[in-house]
Amino acid sequence: MTLQDATWRAARARSPAREASGAVIFWLFATAALIFAMVLVGGATRLTESGLSITQWQPVTGVIPPLSDPQWREEFARYRQIPQFARLNSDMTLEGFKTIFWWEWSHRLLARIIGVAFVAPALWFWLSGRLRGAVGRQVAVATGLLALEPIVGWWMVSSGLSERTEVAQERLAMHLMIAAATFGVLIHAGVGLRARRREAAAAGFRVAATAFAVLVFAQLGLGALVAGLRAGLTYNTWPLMDGRWIPAGAFGLSPWPRSIVDDVATVQFDHRTVAYGIVAYALAQALFAHRAAPGTALARRAIALAGLALAQAALGVATLLFVAPLGLALAHQALALVLFGTAMAHAGATTAEASGARTLAPAAPANKGRSSSGRCEGQT
Ligand code: HEM
Repeated sequence: MTLQDATWRAARARSPAREASGAVIFWLFATAALIFAMVLVGGATRLTESGLSITQWQPVTGVIPPLSDPQWREEFARYRQIPQFARLNSDMTLEGFKTIFWWEWSHRLLARIIGVAFVAPALWFWLSGRLRGAVGRQVAVATGLLALEPIVGWWMVSSGLSERTEVAQERLAMHLMIAAATFGVLIHAGVGLRARRREAAAAGFRVAATAFAVLVFAQLGLGALVAGLRAGLTYNTWPLMDGRWIPAGAFGLSPWPRSIVDDVATVQFDHRTVAYGIVAYALAQALFAHRAAPGTALARRAIALAGLALAQAALGVATLLFVAPLGLALAHQALALVLFGTAMAHAGATTAEASGARTLAPAAPANKGRSSSGRCEGQT
């Protein structure tokens, strides 16, 4: 470590800006962690076919589950009226119903907990003037997304209550993408608030880092379409799809763009193809970052992303070859979020390093990034 590095680290450690934003950063990352858990519970709810077990939307009173035998029977009677019960689960007992009920109930309970854990501190930080500039805008976006998510969630559930036996895959994809977007925005905001030194090479990588995060985000949507259409139960071969690179019938619906959402072969083909693009992009990004700025945080992040992308693609192949068992499918979903979260962190950090907005000058660290009122102003 050079003397300059040591001075900068010491300045950063005692910076008031760092103290002021510490609580905000903790809150942003803690909410992101809760959303991560939420997505996993949502994935398990889908994979255990539990998502349609609660056929009403009661945002407040729904927090109380059935407490007596008659209440359980009433809840079960409501489920017995939907097509999923009649066509797929007609032999289900009350005990079996309770299992799927608890998954969906836990998913909705966690949603309420996230709402409170996010909104109460948000109000406090906002009133105390700690959400200014970019972080304020990002928190506003996250608030909007969090408000939208339960509405889309119910819109998704309602698509499976009258004619279909499962929810509409495009609504499932929207539901997952809104959760992922909230998760990503919170991480981006938290990372952007942390003090960083200016990194000359970062300017060239800022757009590339953001574009990579956007690409992974799109892939989350394509993956949700695969999951929603149960496309992982078909074409369980790799690298070819039942002997062909482009499966027979792909893009065959009329008009053809419908195939992107509704056709099993096309949806899986798209997901595979974009995965290869992500791996190639991540490897190239790591190589260029390593060459341009060897040994820097920028290069380390880019290399970590390449490793994650490779691991995620391998896990996807395993999920496919083993015909989407619960454990592998959940692990694939979890790693997808880790990859996306890391991509957003990389984009946030690279942007901060490129702009130097949070750079703490070693000579005068004490007053940088904090006004006399103690608010966070590091991001502009
Ligand atoms: C590197 C990039 C990849 C990312 C970010 C990614 C992400 C995702 C996501 C978010 C889902 C939805 C999970 C859910 O909603 O439960 C999914 C599903 C799936 N992916 Fe990927 N995936 C990638 C690569 C692959 C590859 C290379 C394959 C296979 C060749 C693959 C096969 C699958 C399968 C079979 C499913 C459905 C699993 C289920 O039914 O639950 N994925 N992916």
